[in-house]
Amino acid sequence: METKELRVNGKRLQGALEEMAKIGATPNGGVQRLALSDEDKRARDLFVKWLRQIDLEVRIDEMGNIFGRRKGTNNDLPPVMSGSHIDSQPKGGRFDGILGVLGALEVLRTLHENKVETKRPMTVVVWTNEEGTRFAPAMQCSGVWAKALDRDWIYDRTDINGLRFEDELMRIGYKGDTPAQRSDVHAYYEYHIEQGPVLERENIKIGVPKGIVCLHWYDIYLAGEANQVGPTPMEGRHDALCAAAEMILKVNELPARMGGNLVATVGEIQNEPNSRNIIPDKVHFTVDIRSWDDALGIKAWDLLKQDFEVIAQKRGCPIRIEETWRVAHSPFDTKLVQNILDVSNDLGYSSLGMVSGAGHDASYMNQIAPTAMIFVPSIGGRSHVEVENTKWEDCEAGTNVLLHCMLRSANE
Ligand code: GLV
Ligand code: MN
Ligand code: MN
Repeated sequence: METKELRVNGKRLQGALEEMAKIGATPNGGVQRLALSDEDKRARDLFVKWLRQIDLEVRIDEMGNIFGRRKGTNNDLPPVMSGSHIDSQPKGGRFDGILGVLGALEVLRTLHENKVETKRPMTVVVWTNEEGTRFAPAMQCSGVWAKALDRDWIYDRTDINGLRFEDELMRIGYKGDTPAQRSDVHAYYEYHIEQGPVLERENIKIGVPKGIVCLHWYDIYLAGEANQVGPTPMEGRHDALCAAAEMILKVNELPARMGGNLVATVGEIQNEPNSRNIIPDKVHFTVDIRSWDDALGIKAWDLLKQDFEVIAQKRGCPIRIEETWRVAHSPFDTKLVQNILDVSNDLGYSSLGMVSGAGHDASYMNQIAPTAMIFVPSIGGRSHVEVENTKWEDCEAGTNVLLHCMLRSANE
Protein backbone atom coordinates (compact mmCIF):
# COMPACT_ATOMS: atom_id res chain seq x y z
CA MET A 1 0.00 0.00 0.00
CA GLU A 2 1.18 3.49 -0.76
CA THR A 3 1.73 5.53 2.35
CA LYS A 4 -0.70 8.18 1.19
CA GLU A 5 -3.49 5.56 1.14
CA LEU A 6 -2.82 4.69 4.78
CA ARG A 7 -5.71 5.24 7.23
CA VAL A 8 -6.05 4.66 10.96
CA ASN A 9 -8.44 2.05 12.35
CA GLY A 10 -11.41 4.03 13.68
CA LYS A 11 -12.96 1.03 15.43
CA ARG A 12 -9.75 0.24 17.26
CA LEU A 13 -9.45 3.88 18.35
CA GLN A 14 -13.04 3.82 19.59
CA GLY A 15 -12.35 0.59 21.49
CA ALA A 16 -9.31 2.13 23.19
CA LEU A 17 -11.23 5.28 24.14
CA GLU A 18 -14.11 3.20 25.51
CA GLU A 19 -11.80 0.97 27.53
CA MET A 20 -9.97 3.99 28.96
CA ALA A 21 -13.27 5.69 29.79
CA LYS A 22 -14.08 2.82 32.19
CA ILE A 23 -11.23 4.02 34.43
CA GLY A 24 -12.75 6.66 36.69
CA ALA A 25 -16.14 6.41 34.96
CA THR A 26 -18.77 8.65 36.57
CA PRO A 27 -22.51 7.87 36.80
CA ASN A 28 -23.48 10.35 34.07
CA GLY A 29 -21.10 9.17 31.37
CA GLY A 30 -17.99 11.17 32.17
CA VAL A 31 -14.70 10.36 33.87
CA GLN A 32 -12.93 11.55 36.98
CA ARG A 33 -9.19 10.91 36.79
CA LEU A 34 -7.58 13.61 38.86
CA ALA A 35 -3.82 13.94 38.45
CA LEU A 36 -1.83 11.41 40.51
CA SER A 37 -4.99 9.70 41.81
CA ASP A 38 -5.50 5.92 41.79
CA GLU A 39 -7.50 6.33 38.58
CA ASP A 40 -4.64 8.24 36.93
CA LYS A 41 -2.33 5.36 37.89
CA ARG A 42 -4.65 2.69 36.46
CA ALA A 43 -5.04 4.60 33.20
CA ARG A 44 -1.24 5.03 32.95
CA ASP A 45 -0.68 1.32 33.57
CA LEU A 46 -3.07 0.43 30.76
CA PHE A 47 -1.48 2.94 28.42
CA VAL A 48 2.06 1.72 29.13
CA LYS A 49 0.90 -1.85 28.47
CA TRP A 50 -0.42 -0.71 25.09
CA LEU A 51 2.86 1.05 24.30
CA ARG A 52 4.82 -2.13 25.02
CA GLN A 53 2.54 -4.22 22.80
CA ILE A 54 3.83 -2.37 19.75
CA ASP A 55 7.47 -2.56 20.85
CA LEU A 56 7.92 1.09 21.70
CA GLU A 57 10.81 2.08 23.91
CA VAL A 58 9.10 3.36 27.08
CA ARG A 59 10.60 5.97 29.39
CA ILE A 60 9.09 7.65 32.45
CA ASP A 61 10.72 10.85 33.63
CA GLU A 62 11.02 12.37 37.10
CA MET A 63 7.74 14.28 36.60
CA GLY A 64 5.86 11.15 35.57
CA ASN A 65 5.75 12.16 31.90
CA ILE A 66 5.52 8.99 29.78
CA PHE A 67 7.32 8.69 26.44
CA GLY A 68 6.91 5.85 23.92
CA ARG A 69 9.48 6.01 21.15
CA ARG A 70 9.31 4.34 17.75
CA LYS A 71 12.60 4.15 15.91
CA GLY A 72 13.16 5.81 12.56
CA THR A 73 15.72 4.93 9.93
CA ASN A 74 17.94 7.77 11.16
CA ASN A 75 17.78 7.87 14.94
CA ASP A 76 20.22 10.75 15.25
CA LEU A 77 17.51 13.06 13.98
CA PRO A 78 15.15 14.77 16.47
CA PRO A 79 11.79 12.99 16.64
CA VAL A 80 8.29 14.01 15.70
CA MET A 81 6.27 14.05 18.90
CA SER A 82 2.56 13.90 19.66
CA GLY A 83 0.44 13.38 22.75
CA SER A 84 -1.60 15.10 25.41
CA HIS A 85 -2.84 14.17 28.91
CA ILE A 86 -4.57 11.34 30.78
CA ASP A 87 -5.78 13.34 33.80
CA SER A 88 -9.23 14.90 33.84
CA GLN A 89 -11.34 17.50 35.56
CA PRO A 90 -13.59 16.46 38.47
CA LYS A 91 -16.64 14.98 36.73
CA GLY A 92 -14.90 15.68 33.43
CA GLY A 93 -15.35 14.25 29.96
CA ARG A 94 -14.18 11.12 28.12
CA PHE A 95 -12.30 12.96 25.36
CA ASP A 96 -10.37 15.92 26.82
CA GLY A 97 -6.69 14.98 26.65
CA ILE A 98 -7.12 11.26 26.24
CA LEU A 99 -8.19 11.61 22.59
CA GLY A 100 -4.80 13.15 21.80
CA VAL A 101 -3.00 10.39 23.68
CA LEU A 102 -4.91 7.50 22.16
CA GLY A 103 -5.01 9.22 18.77
CA ALA A 104 -1.20 9.32 18.75
CA LEU A 105 -1.12 5.68 19.91
CA GLU A 106 -3.49 4.76 17.06
CA VAL A 107 -1.13 6.45 14.61
CA LEU A 108 1.78 4.35 15.89
CA ARG A 109 -0.36 1.18 15.90
CA THR A 110 -1.25 1.85 12.26
CA LEU A 111 2.40 2.35 11.30
CA HIS A 112 3.38 -0.76 13.27
CA GLU A 113 0.87 -3.11 11.68
CA ASN A 114 1.65 -1.77 8.20
CA LYS A 115 5.39 -1.93 8.87
CA VAL A 116 5.80 1.65 7.72
CA GLU A 117 9.28 3.07 8.21
CA THR A 118 9.92 6.76 8.76
CA LYS A 119 13.15 8.67 8.55
CA ARG A 120 12.82 10.29 11.97
CA PRO A 121 11.80 8.56 15.17
CA MET A 122 8.31 9.24 16.48
CA THR A 123 7.40 9.70 20.13
CA VAL A 124 4.01 9.51 21.79
CA VAL A 125 3.87 11.44 25.06
CA VAL A 126 1.63 11.73 28.11
CA TRP A 127 2.22 14.92 30.10
CA THR A 128 1.49 14.71 33.83
CA ASN A 129 -1.17 17.00 35.33
CA GLU A 130 -2.32 19.09 32.43
CA GLU A 131 -5.58 20.11 34.10
CA GLY A 132 -4.17 21.82 37.18
CA THR A 133 -7.42 21.18 39.01
CA ARG A 134 -5.93 19.09 41.84
CA PHE A 135 -2.48 20.69 41.89
CA ALA A 136 -2.33 24.20 40.38
CA PRO A 137 -1.17 25.40 37.95
CA ALA A 138 -2.04 23.55 34.76
CA MET A 139 0.34 22.04 32.16
CA GLN A 140 2.86 21.51 34.94
CA CYS A 141 5.04 18.79 33.60
CA SER A 142 5.31 19.90 29.99
CA GLY A 143 6.26 23.19 31.67
CA VAL A 144 9.08 21.56 33.64
CA TRP A 145 10.20 19.55 30.61
CA ALA A 146 10.36 22.76 28.54
CA LYS A 147 12.31 24.48 31.36
CA ALA A 148 9.56 27.06 31.87
CA LEU A 149 8.60 25.83 35.36
CA ASP A 150 10.83 24.79 38.25
CA ARG A 151 10.79 21.08 39.12
CA ASP A 152 11.04 21.54 42.87
CA TRP A 153 8.34 24.19 42.95
CA ILE A 154 6.02 21.68 41.28
CA TYR A 155 7.10 18.88 43.65
CA ASP A 156 6.03 21.04 46.60
CA ARG A 157 2.62 22.02 45.27
CA THR A 158 -0.16 20.66 47.49
CA ASP A 159 -3.75 19.65 46.87
CA ILE A 160 -6.74 20.74 48.94
CA ASN A 161 -5.92 18.06 51.55
CA GLY A 162 -2.30 19.18 51.87
CA LEU A 163 -0.87 16.22 49.93
CA ARG A 164 2.36 17.03 48.05
CA PHE A 165 2.73 16.50 44.33
CA GLU A 166 6.00 14.58 44.64
CA ASP A 167 4.65 12.29 47.39
CA GLU A 168 1.60 11.49 45.29
CA LEU A 169 3.75 10.90 42.20
CA MET A 170 5.81 8.38 44.18
CA ARG A 171 2.73 6.81 45.72
CA ILE A 172 1.33 5.92 42.30
CA GLY A 173 4.75 4.62 41.18
CA TYR A 174 5.35 7.13 38.41
CA LYS A 175 8.37 9.09 39.59
CA GLY A 176 10.75 7.84 36.93
CA ASP A 177 14.53 8.05 36.67
CA THR A 178 14.91 10.06 33.50
CA PRO A 179 15.52 13.79 34.10
CA ALA A 180 12.60 15.93 32.88
CA GLN A 181 14.71 17.90 30.46
CA ARG A 182 13.87 19.14 27.04
CA SER A 183 15.57 17.57 24.09
CA ASP A 184 15.30 18.56 20.45
CA VAL A 185 11.92 17.94 18.87
CA HIS A 186 11.47 18.34 15.12
CA ALA A 187 7.70 18.89 15.30
CA TYR A 188 5.07 18.60 18.05
CA TYR A 189 1.45 17.99 17.03
CA GLU A 190 -1.25 17.88 19.72
CA TYR A 191 -4.61 16.44 18.79
CA HIS A 192 -7.60 17.54 20.91
CA ILE A 193 -11.31 18.16 20.99
CA GLU A 194 -12.24 21.77 20.32
CA GLN A 195 -14.05 22.25 23.68
CA GLY A 196 -16.07 25.10 22.17
CA PRO A 197 -19.00 25.61 19.77
CA VAL A 198 -17.38 26.89 16.57
CA LEU A 199 -16.73 23.74 14.51
CA GLU A 200 -20.18 22.28 15.12
CA ARG A 201 -21.87 25.59 14.37
CA GLU A 202 -19.95 26.01 11.11
CA ASN A 203 -20.28 22.31 10.20
CA ILE A 204 -16.50 21.89 9.89
CA LYS A 205 -14.56 18.67 10.55
CA ILE A 206 -11.09 19.92 11.48
CA GLY A 207 -10.17 22.98 13.52
CA VAL A 208 -6.72 24.44 13.01
CA PRO A 209 -5.82 26.88 15.79
CA LYS A 210 -3.29 29.56 14.99
CA GLY A 211 -2.35 29.40 18.67
CA ILE A 212 -3.49 29.42 22.28
CA VAL A 213 -4.57 32.42 24.36
CA CYS A 214 -2.55 33.56 27.37
CA LEU A 215 -3.55 32.06 30.71
CA HIS A 216 -3.21 33.97 33.97
CA TRP A 217 -4.14 32.39 37.32
CA TYR A 218 -4.45 34.13 40.68
CA ASP A 219 -5.30 32.93 44.19
CA ILE A 220 -7.09 35.27 46.58
CA TYR A 221 -7.16 34.77 50.36
CA LEU A 222 -9.50 36.85 52.53
CA ALA A 223 -9.65 37.07 56.30
CA GLY A 224 -12.80 38.11 58.16
CA GLU A 225 -14.07 37.84 61.73
CA ALA A 226 -16.14 34.80 62.64
CA ASN A 227 -19.08 35.19 64.95
CA GLN A 228 -22.52 33.81 65.82
CA VAL A 229 -24.88 35.05 63.10
CA GLY A 230 -27.90 35.65 65.35
CA PRO A 231 -26.72 38.05 68.02
CA THR A 232 -24.11 39.85 65.87
CA PRO A 233 -25.53 43.07 64.37
CA MET A 234 -25.15 43.61 60.64
CA GLU A 235 -23.12 46.77 61.10
CA GLY A 236 -19.49 46.24 61.97
CA ARG A 237 -19.29 42.73 60.56
CA HIS A 238 -16.20 41.55 58.69
CA ASP A 239 -17.73 38.92 56.46
CA ALA A 240 -15.07 37.41 54.21
CA LEU A 241 -17.62 35.67 52.00
CA CYS A 242 -19.47 38.94 51.29
CA ALA A 243 -16.16 40.56 50.35
CA ALA A 244 -15.49 37.62 48.02
CA ALA A 245 -18.98 37.90 46.50
CA GLU A 246 -18.40 41.53 45.59
CA MET A 247 -15.02 40.68 44.10
CA ILE A 248 -16.38 37.75 42.10
CA LEU A 249 -18.90 40.00 40.37
CA LYS A 250 -16.06 42.37 39.47
CA VAL A 251 -14.34 39.42 37.75
CA ASN A 252 -17.49 38.60 35.82
CA GLU A 253 -17.87 42.23 34.69
CA LEU A 254 -14.21 42.55 33.68
CA PRO A 255 -14.46 41.41 30.01
CA ALA A 256 -17.24 43.92 29.23
CA ARG A 257 -15.26 46.65 30.97
CA MET A 258 -12.05 45.88 29.05
CA GLY A 259 -13.60 45.38 25.63
CA GLY A 260 -11.51 43.29 23.27
CA ASN A 261 -11.11 39.60 23.46
CA LEU A 262 -10.90 38.47 27.06
CA VAL A 263 -12.63 36.03 29.39
CA ALA A 264 -12.45 36.01 33.19
CA THR A 265 -13.74 33.37 35.59
CA VAL A 266 -13.89 32.41 39.25
CA GLY A 267 -14.32 28.63 39.28
CA GLU A 268 -13.17 27.57 42.73
CA ILE A 269 -13.95 28.82 46.22
CA GLN A 270 -13.38 27.59 49.76
CA ASN A 271 -15.30 29.16 52.60
CA GLU A 272 -14.54 28.61 56.29
CA PRO A 273 -15.89 27.49 58.64
CA ASN A 274 -18.71 26.93 56.11
CA SER A 275 -21.49 26.78 58.65
CA ARG A 276 -24.82 28.49 58.05
CA ASN A 277 -24.77 30.11 61.44
CA ILE A 278 -21.21 31.41 61.57
CA ILE A 279 -20.02 34.57 59.81
CA PRO A 280 -17.28 33.35 57.40
CA ASP A 281 -13.77 34.31 58.43
CA LYS A 282 -11.62 32.66 55.77
CA VAL A 283 -12.21 32.53 52.03
CA HIS A 284 -10.01 31.42 49.19
CA PHE A 285 -11.03 31.81 45.56
CA THR A 286 -9.33 31.61 42.18
CA VAL A 287 -9.27 33.98 39.20
CA ASP A 288 -8.61 32.81 35.63
CA ILE A 289 -8.05 35.48 32.93
CA ARG A 290 -7.43 34.59 29.26
CA SER A 291 -6.89 36.61 26.11
CA TRP A 292 -4.99 36.47 22.83
CA ASP A 293 -3.63 39.86 23.89
CA ASP A 294 -1.18 39.35 26.80
CA ALA A 295 -1.01 43.06 27.61
CA LEU A 296 -4.81 43.32 27.80
CA GLY A 297 -4.83 40.38 30.22
CA ILE A 298 -2.31 42.10 32.47
CA LYS A 299 -4.05 45.47 32.27
CA ALA A 300 -7.33 43.77 33.24
CA TRP A 301 -5.66 42.19 36.26
CA ASP A 302 -4.12 45.49 37.39
CA LEU A 303 -7.59 47.11 37.41
CA LEU A 304 -9.16 44.12 39.13
CA LYS A 305 -6.50 44.05 41.80
CA GLN A 306 -7.19 47.70 42.64
CA ASP A 307 -10.91 46.91 42.97
CA PHE A 308 -10.13 43.95 45.22
CA GLU A 309 -8.04 46.13 47.50
CA VAL A 310 -10.79 48.77 47.77
CA ILE A 311 -13.42 46.13 48.59
CA ALA A 312 -11.17 44.43 51.15
CA GLN A 313 -10.51 47.79 52.84
CA LYS A 314 -14.18 48.78 52.86
CA ARG A 315 -15.25 45.50 54.45
CA GLY A 316 -12.35 45.28 56.88
CA CYS A 317 -11.22 41.95 55.44
CA PRO A 318 -7.44 41.80 54.90
CA ILE A 319 -6.55 40.35 51.51
CA ARG A 320 -3.58 38.30 50.34
CA ILE A 321 -3.05 37.84 46.63
CA GLU A 322 -0.89 35.21 44.95
CA GLU A 323 -0.03 35.71 41.30
CA THR A 324 0.17 31.97 40.78
CA TRP A 325 0.82 31.47 37.10
CA ARG A 326 1.16 33.19 33.75
CA VAL A 327 1.68 31.69 30.33
CA ALA A 328 1.94 34.06 27.40
CA HIS A 329 -0.23 33.48 24.33
CA SER A 330 1.29 30.91 21.98
CA PRO A 331 1.33 31.61 18.24
CA PHE A 332 1.92 28.25 16.57
CA ASP A 333 4.44 27.38 13.89
CA THR A 334 3.01 28.56 10.57
CA LYS A 335 4.51 25.67 8.60
CA LEU A 336 2.94 23.04 10.84
CA VAL A 337 -0.38 24.90 10.80
CA GLN A 338 -0.20 24.85 7.00
CA ASN A 339 0.62 21.11 7.06
CA ILE A 340 -2.61 20.49 8.98
CA LEU A 341 -4.65 22.59 6.54
CA ASP A 342 -3.06 20.82 3.54
CA VAL A 343 -3.48 17.33 4.95
CA SER A 344 -7.12 18.03 5.86
CA ASN A 345 -7.66 19.16 2.29
CA ASP A 346 -5.91 16.07 0.84
CA LEU A 347 -8.10 13.81 2.97
CA GLY A 348 -11.27 15.64 1.91
CA TYR A 349 -12.07 17.14 5.31
CA SER A 350 -13.29 20.72 5.71
CA SER A 351 -11.09 22.82 7.98
CA LEU A 352 -11.17 26.18 9.68
CA GLY A 353 -8.57 28.45 11.28
CA MET A 354 -9.37 29.47 14.84
CA VAL A 355 -7.88 30.30 18.25
CA SER A 356 -7.71 27.91 21.20
CA GLY A 357 -9.32 29.40 24.28
CA ALA A 358 -8.37 26.29 26.25
CA GLY A 359 -4.87 25.74 27.58
CA HIS A 360 -2.84 22.77 26.36
CA ASP A 361 0.64 21.33 26.85
CA ALA A 362 1.21 22.66 23.34
CA SER A 363 1.60 26.10 24.98
CA TYR A 364 4.86 25.05 26.61
CA MET A 365 5.98 22.86 23.71
CA ASN A 366 5.52 25.86 21.46
CA GLN A 367 8.25 27.64 23.45
CA ILE A 368 10.85 25.05 22.49
CA ALA A 369 9.76 23.33 19.27
CA PRO A 370 7.68 23.89 16.15
CA THR A 371 4.16 23.15 17.41
CA ALA A 372 0.57 23.05 16.16
CA MET A 373 -2.76 21.49 17.09
CA ILE A 374 -5.57 19.57 15.39
CA PHE A 375 -9.13 20.04 16.72
CA VAL A 376 -12.32 18.05 16.13
CA PRO A 377 -15.86 19.23 16.99
CA SER A 378 -17.31 19.04 20.49
CA ILE A 379 -21.01 18.18 20.45
CA GLY A 380 -22.97 21.13 21.81
CA GLY A 381 -19.66 22.90 22.44
CA ARG A 382 -19.58 21.24 25.91
CA SER A 383 -16.35 20.25 27.67
CA HIS A 384 -14.99 19.79 31.21
CA VAL A 385 -18.37 18.18 31.92
CA GLU A 386 -19.67 14.61 31.92
CA VAL A 387 -21.71 15.09 28.73
CA GLU A 388 -18.59 16.08 26.76
CA ASN A 389 -18.86 14.19 23.47
CA THR A 390 -17.41 13.95 19.97
CA LYS A 391 -18.68 11.75 17.11
CA TRP A 392 -16.60 8.61 16.56
CA GLU A 393 -16.25 9.45 12.89
CA ASP A 394 -14.78 12.83 13.86
CA CYS A 395 -12.34 11.17 16.27
CA GLU A 396 -11.22 8.98 13.37
CA ALA A 397 -10.97 11.89 10.94
CA GLY A 398 -8.78 13.91 13.28
CA THR A 399 -6.53 10.90 13.84
CA ASN A 400 -6.09 10.47 10.09
CA VAL A 401 -5.03 14.10 9.90
CA LEU A 402 -2.58 13.48 12.74
CA LEU A 403 -1.22 10.38 10.98
CA HIS A 404 -0.45 12.21 7.76
CA CYS A 405 0.93 15.31 9.48
CA MET A 406 3.28 13.13 11.51
CA LEU A 407 4.33 11.20 8.42
CA ARG A 408 5.08 14.41 6.54
CA SER A 409 7.22 15.80 9.33
CA ALA A 410 8.89 12.48 10.08
CA ASN A 411 10.12 12.09 6.52
CA GLU A 412 11.67 15.57 6.24
C1 GLV B 1 -7.26 23.32 30.59
O1 GLV B 1 -8.02 22.40 30.41
C2 GLV B 1 -7.72 24.68 30.61
O2 GLV B 1 -8.01 25.23 29.53
O3 GLV B 1 -7.85 25.23 31.70
MN1 MN C 1 -7.07 18.96 27.52
MN1 MN D 1 -9.10 20.17 30.20
